[in-house]
Amino acid sequence: MIITKKVMRNVSLTAHPAGCKRYVQQQIAWVKNQAQNGVDARYPKPTAEMLPRRVLVIGGSTGYGLSSRIVAAYTGGADTINVSFEREPAEKKTATPGWYNTMAFEQQAQKDGMKASSVFGDAFSTAIKEETARKIKEELGQVDLVIYSLASPLRNDPVTGETYRSVLKPIGKPFTALSVDLGDDVVKQATIDPATDEQVQDTIKVMGGEDWMLWIDFLLAQNLLATGAMTVAYSYIGPRITYPVYREGTIGKAKEHLENSASALTNKLEAIGGKAFVSVNKALVTRASAVIPVVPLYMALLYQVMKEKHIHEHCTQQIYRLFHSRLYTKDEIPTDQEGRLRVDDWEMLEEVQKEVERRWALQKEGQPLLQGDLDGVMEEYEHIHGFGFPDIDYQADIDPRIV
Ligand code: NAI
Repeated sequence: MIITKKVMRNVSLTAHPAGCKRYVQQQIAWVKNQAQNGVDARYPKPTAEMLPRRVLVIGGSTGYGLSSRIVAAYTGGADTINVSFEREPAEKKTATPGWYNTMAFEQQAQKDGMKASSVFGDAFSTAIKEETARKIKEELGQVDLVIYSLASPLRNDPVTGETYRSVLKPIGKPFTALSVDLGDDVVKQATIDPATDEQVQDTIKVMGGEDWMLWIDFLLAQNLLATGAMTVAYSYIGPRITYPVYREGTIGKAKEHLENSASALTNKLEAIGGKAFVSVNKALVTRASAVIPVVPLYMALLYQVMKEKHIHEHCTQQIYRLFHSRLYTKDEIPTDQEGRLRVDDWEMLEEVQKEVERRWALQKEGQPLLQGDLDGVMEEYEHIHGFGFPDIDYQADIDPRIV
């Protein structure tokens, strides 16, 4: 079939196998080049003896999870297991980008002498936790690091079977702000109604720390966490402009729950000398973030400002800094007052945020976006679905089942 780009309400319905492979290869190439040749002085050389050799990434097929897998493998030579939720391809239907990414990554990692495999299914379920535990036992023995990088619209409670849906809404009162859609350069006004109390609780159920705790409890009970093992989950804070829909909204409540879970988990991990952290990362275009109202407009302005200051990063660069400037150095692990790791430090620089705020004030409803980088945001969105690479022939008739 000829695979074309199809995007509906900021959700891409298709993905291109050759393009996803290209995306993964580019990320691997950047990591290898940086680790071996130290090209960019802001990204330190890995401290080899500190690095985890066996890594489980829950949600490791796209976005921050995929980058975690790539950095672990290509700076520390880690064997990795990914758990993610994918649609497999059929003769006339493309797979999810996560499926193509996973195939591309695993082929390459295995060629390069590392173990790399996946469990596809619902990470919230007990069955998938059990299957993952079996795989860890068989292939790795134990793991030294567990990355928790799920972003999901729903969760079935493994005990009651009840389905909870996460929503991206303000709390208490409606929120009206300017917004843009990917692929449509016109600023619109968007009003989002507040969540009900039930929706707040449901979002915490899906995106809070409960499932992270279940995973770690489960792995501890099965003796699958090595001495000194660490676990890291990802969070976001962002600027005041997006507080009503993000940090002070339903997802913010879930992130607070996730962040509080880290200290509870560190207590549990004490028995094996391990630690749990939340890392606050930068706003970046991923399948999850593209659907958050108002955030694409913020990202378009942020990208432009950070690019002008030469401090824009992709997911992989963020995770490289997380590993080699924060988690695995000979120094004490640096955290903020709440015990969180911060790799959103460049995004949150006062000079960056002031400039974003200034540009935000220039935007007018019904007008094209001013002084932002919507093209850059769009290009990245295309790339994470395997589109927009100039040397890939998108008119070619290909089998979507082959990567
Ligand atoms: P993403 O959409 O690229 O990745 C989500 C991953 O979760 C994918 O591998 C997907 O297959 C997996 N997944 C979803 N539901 C699943 C299920 N039921 N079972 C198994 N796997 C499932 O998202 P992204 O943006 O990388 O998000 C990962 C984490 O990073 C989230 O906690 C998010 O809040 C956080 N984060 C994201 C930021 C951003 O701007 N993108 C900024 C800071 C934090």
